[in-house]
Amino acid sequence: MTKRPLRSARWFDTDDLRGFGHRSRLMQMGYSLDDWNGRPVIAIVNTWSDINPCHAHFRARIEDVKRGVLQAGGFPLELPAISLSENFVKPTTMLYRNLLAMETEELLRSHPIDGAVLMGGCDKTTPGLILGAISMDLPAIFMPAGPMLRGNLRGEVLGSGSDAWKYWDERRAGTIGDEEWQAVEAGIARSYGHCMTMGTASTMTAIAEAMGLTLPGASSIPAADANHIRMASESGRRIVEMVNEDLRPTAILSRNAFENAIAVAMAMGCSTNAVIHLIAMARRAGHDVGLDDFEAASRRVPVIANVRPSGDHYLMEDFYYAGGLRALMNRLRGFLHADTITVSGRSLAESYANAEVFKDDVIRPLDNPVSSEPAMAVLYGNLAPDGCVMKPSAADPRLLKHAGPALVFDSYAELKQGIDDPDLDVTADTVLVMRGAGPQGGPGMPEWGMLPIPKKLLKMGVRDLLRISDARMSGTSYGACVLHVSPEAHVGGPLALVKTGDVIEVDVASRRIDMRVSQDELDSRRAALPATQPRFGRGYGWMFSRHIMQAHEGCDFDFLQTGFGPAPGEPAI
Ligand code: FES
Ligand code: MG
Repeated sequence: MTKRPLRSARWFDTDDLRGFGHRSRLMQMGYSLDDWNGRPVIAIVNTWSDINPCHAHFRARIEDVKRGVLQAGGFPLELPAISLSENFVKPTTMLYRNLLAMETEELLRSHPIDGAVLMGGCDKTTPGLILGAISMDLPAIFMPAGPMLRGNLRGEVLGSGSDAWKYWDERRAGTIGDEEWQAVEAGIARSYGHCMTMGTASTMTAIAEAMGLTLPGASSIPAADANHIRMASESGRRIVEMVNEDLRPTAILSRNAFENAIAVAMAMGCSTNAVIHLIAMARRAGHDVGLDDFEAASRRVPVIANVRPSGDHYLMEDFYYAGGLRALMNRLRGFLHADTITVSGRSLAESYANAEVFKDDVIRPLDNPVSSEPAMAVLYGNLAPDGCVMKPSAADPRLLKHAGPALVFDSYAELKQGIDDPDLDVTADTVLVMRGAGPQGGPGMPEWGMLPIPKKLLKMGVRDLLRISDARMSGTSYGACVLHVSPEAHVGGPLALVKTGDVIEVDVASRRIDMRVSQDELDSRRAALPATQPRFGRGYGWMFSRHIMQAHEGCDFDFLQTGFGPAPGEPAI
């Protein structure tokens, strides 16, 4: 069936007691020699769980993937991995992205596997699976979950996340009642599939496709569309061929592939989380990608996907009907390296060559972008020496150049307690600051960065405010939120030194973020800074606390980085 010796042959083909054990245990499950002999063994890494609505269809889809694997002459094996449901996992799925990455890598390493189909889509599952697959470097194809259908409220469209925040603010302002609020609850998520705004899920699956890790066009197909089923079985067929061709992630993931992913992310008006995950994935693949690559791309590439929250109206379902990612990439071709390859074995350019845009308002022409502002801006200054990010296209333009007095909260709990106090000393010019929410401090860098607007201001009609934190923000969030301030406050970053009343100045045009406080004063504040303690004393969290890197480094564990540890041939530590 295949000319190269298969990795799995080390388990199944040996005439010794181990080989006997492996074969007899397959037979225990009802398999015959014909089921596995000489066939590529395909792991289907399934991030399904009973509490992950975004992957609820994976139980059915795995059968479609298996059908494809069998048709192509492979031997499919389902290997379940941690599901990381964005909505339910506390304190944040980001605490566990690297756990999924480790699990994926070790599942593939420890079992008799020749290639893998990775089933993910809900936010962290995409980078988690891909990080592990890069490090293990067996042939792998990513099968995206697909976005859920549009939400519906009395005939009006509802978008994941974005409309939850919007209606929540209206409820707090007292403009909608219980009945309408309950209708939002029942209508906002009405099919399986991941969030259908341009949140982290839609961003990351598009990135996976642009990197070349999905079948062409796969990432835009709605989860509930029959095309999704066909894509699943096609992924199963293709992975068997990939094993025969020995097409591995490191052969696909050149630096140019990551540059393509960054360009596509910008054109999509991506979630800010893309920065962290892309840096981590690129570094695993051996490429030194950093914040400056995003800043450079954001200045060149216009936002042309008119999908909320950067866009004003449409959702992923509309994006698919308008032609999907292949059509967007065709428009974007001047910004893409055409000769990167994909899991199809062909070039990226071939995958989008004939893709048409059917609705110009959803996928805009390059000269009519969604916003004159870029998808993302990377700011530096005395408040963020290692950088921070914001999404100018989703912010009130008045706040893109702004100076105002800081109102500082030391934790999310403190903020929650104080933010709606009717006597809060706050105006539309106030700069809200929250710290202690970074990778170490959060812990796990939760998506708290869209700090709530004080009730007092909501009632006055204020709907945006300059907000700064070392947290992340959901890709479905919006507003003038400065995020990922690095280094974070918990490890002594300058964010820890800000006091209420300090004037903070943000100038997005010049990419600056500074506090107007003298260096002498900052030095004396630093000397008085109390020591912080790790957030965990045992278990996975203990390991996390010791090894998590900062946001601008991609929040990988130091020991998982490619190149960590002694060089080949040197003794292990
Ligand atoms: Fe799963 Fe948003 S909750 S993608
Ligand atoms: Mg999210």
